[in-house]
Amino acid sequence: MVEALREELADLTASVRAFLEWHAATGADGLPGHPSALHEALGASSPDGGPPAPRRAERGFAGLDAPSPPASRGGSGAAFAPPEQRSAAAAVSPPHPEQRPAAAAVSPPHPEQRSAEAQAARSPVQAQRGPEPSRPAVSAASSPRAEPAARANAPQPVTPEERVTRLALLAEEVRTCQKCPLHEGRTHTVFSRGSPLSEIVFVGEGPGAEEDLQGEPFVGPAGQLLDKMIAAMGYQRDGVYICNIVKCRPPKNRKPEPAEMATCSPYLASQLALIKPKVIVALGATAVQGLIGTTEGITKLRGTWKLYKGSIPIMPTFHPAYLLRQPSAKREVWSDLKEVMRHLGKSAPDRG
Ligand code: URA
Repeated sequence: MVEALREELADLTASVRAFLEWHAATGADGLPGHPSALHEALGASSPDGGPPAPRRAERGFAGLDAPSPPASRGGSGAAFAPPEQRSAAAAVSPPHPEQRPAAAAVSPPHPEQRSAEAQAARSPVQAQRGPEPSRPAVSAASSPRAEPAARANAPQPVTPEERVTRLALLAEEVRTCQKCPLHEGRTHTVFSRGSPLSEIVFVGEGPGAEEDLQGEPFVGPAGQLLDKMIAAMGYQRDGVYICNIVKCRPPKNRKPEPAEMATCSPYLASQLALIKPKVIVALGATAVQGLIGTTEGITKLRGTWKLYKGSIPIMPTFHPAYLLRQPSAKREVWSDLKEVMRHLGKSAPDRG
């Protein structure tokens, strides 16, 4: 008798605890409609009704934790130090064409990675948006009971794991894309390389011969210079995210046609929407044109902040392939990259 009562009491306690956890997890009012709702809401609950598995401990993100590489002295030609470290952050790179579509495990970003608010006063976003519209006051009629419904309708933040998974799915979609004639001449699609958790995204024009062969952006000679630029900024090679306006190589390395860029642009838009970087560095005129639709030349655009979809600051600069032909332009590029670092609250190594 006492044993039966004790069991009943234990059951009751477990139910109350599960309800409280469900309530805390969902913010919902009332009771869950079906017992399985508790399991769903608690996500990692074990099938036997035990407590949810503890969340994986947050780790710093290796790509941005590393100290800046030592500054090499010299003029603008020496501005870009050789890439010193290849990062373990490759673990979050989208899968190589041969390994698709398994999504890699990721660590959440280091807290510092998302903290450049100190720069807000000089933010290019604010500069271009003008004064912030005043927020409507909360009406007296909005009762606390309306809150859970509002919360349910609000877009849910994408976790780092979801971001990686969705990007891998998108890369898979791109891999079979035949929406424009560029697919006819490709060996591989070229989706991205680097970390989807990066605060900074570099956007180029489109794959060249080497990229087409390897299925990765910026792995040819221009890519090697880009690696040096990234290292000079204090990032690890795979700690930043790199992609292109078009994902297939245009024949004979010609500039992509406006129609090809327009057809491919939803892929880039989805990449940027998932990554939500703090800054986009647009490499060359085609990249800026593909991002904001301007017809202005890169010499005029470079070094001046633009905005992507009204929210993400873009810093246009010269394409590394241009720097290979015109090394004296490295000085301007380094100045643009220092501006990016200033915006991100990172100190720029003194490179003369
Ligand atoms: N140039 C680009 O714009 N993108 C690449 O991926 C390689 C070279």
